[in-house]
Amino acid sequence: MTTTNRTLLSPLKLGSIELPNSIIMAPLTRMRSSADGVPSDLNIEYYTQRASAGLIITEATSITADSVGVPNMPGIFTQEQIVAWRKVTDAVHARGGRIVIQIVHAGRASHSSLTGGVLPVAPSALAAPGGTYSPRYESVTYETPEVLALEALSGIVALFVQATENALEAGFDGVEIHGANGYLLDGFLQDGTNLRTDGYGGSITNRTRLLLEVVDAVSSVIGSDKVGVRLSPSSTYNGMSDSDPKALFNHVIAQLNTRHLAYLHMTEARASEIGMHDDLLHNVINNAEQFRPVFEGAFISAGGYTLQGAGETLAKGHASAVAFGRMYIANPDLVERITAEAELNKYDRATFYGGGAEGYVDYPARVAN
Ligand SMILES: Cc1cc2nc3c(=O)[nH]c(=O)nc-3n(C[C@H](O)[C@H](O)[C@H](O)COP(=O)(O)O)c2cc1C
Repeated sequence: MTTTNRTLLSPLKLGSIELPNSIIMAPLTRMRSSADGVPSDLNIEYYTQRASAGLIITEATSITADSVGVPNMPGIFTQEQIVAWRKVTDAVHARGGRIVIQIVHAGRASHSSLTGGVLPVAPSALAAPGGTYSPRYESVTYETPEVLALEALSGIVALFVQATENALEAGFDGVEIHGANGYLLDGFLQDGTNLRTDGYGGSITNRTRLLLEVVDAVSSVIGSDKVGVRLSPSSTYNGMSDSDPKALFNHVIAQLNTRHLAYLHMTEARASEIGMHDDLLHNVINNAEQFRPVFEGAFISAGGYTLQGAGETLAKGHASAVAFGRMYIANPDLVERITAEAELNKYDRATFYGGGAEGYVDYPARVAN
């Protein structure tokens, strides 16, 4: 095993994006944009407070009104949203930060109450377990999605392309394609949710096709050195499963190697994907250890990291950088606290999703920034 002398405070290059440290703010859905998915002034304040992160990855942001996953989720498909995101990126840049946008099609993890009556779409007609919230925050159960017709798939790629063009106009430093957590692209990858018999189902090559089409189309707009991809092998969130995750993700990574991306971002299946509990699962595969050696570019690992665990992961060469989710919710100045070896604020789970300023922009920084 190769050891490195890299730490969380080491500078890092992710494609064309230069980071002063290797501490990443993980994508975090907070449900605090407008009902129309327009980023709010609170969103601007929240991201600006966290501008010292090596890189901010925004919360999952919808590429279409037809795939909204939760109420008050931001989008990047209307001019109003673009203008509002521009205020976020300008403010983060003015503080010296870097910010990429996580773009998502929620697939079957959406609901017709959130899409103006449009049924969710997915590779196959299998409903996800559980549910989401309606715009009025009533619990709703996931519906059986409509199967995406073969002819409709180029339209999905086009939505990702338009979102990327919009992200450029909004001033982002790059885009992260959400290929994780059971949303549309992950749904195509894994055989527990993809029962198709056409060129996008069956073999691993076929199941990987849509993701790669999106990666290539998005890269042609913004440059592959500004594109990241998030994957979540072996995670069961949103009812995901695959009969052979090792073979599947080895293939995905081998294909991504030829694309020269800014980074690959992988979650650890040990941690809750939505922060619902603090317990870590044992006896699950360690994705960073398993897949980092296969990927030839920069590798971000996320999921259940303590500062010590993150440092060890970097030292062992199992990742180039570590993304922190819950820690970043509670510590806007996480980089400064790590630098000073200062104590961390504790997060309040009750205010993770939805609401206003409380639990969002009122976590104290040690030194006012
Ligand atoms: C409140 C909350 C919202 C999240 N939203 C997203 C999201 O929008 N996109 C995503 O890929 N992951 C999302 N995640 C997963 C995190 O990015 C991260 O992988 C997870 O919290 C584990 O990291 P941690 O142990 O450092 O919190 C979310 C997690 C939490 C707690």
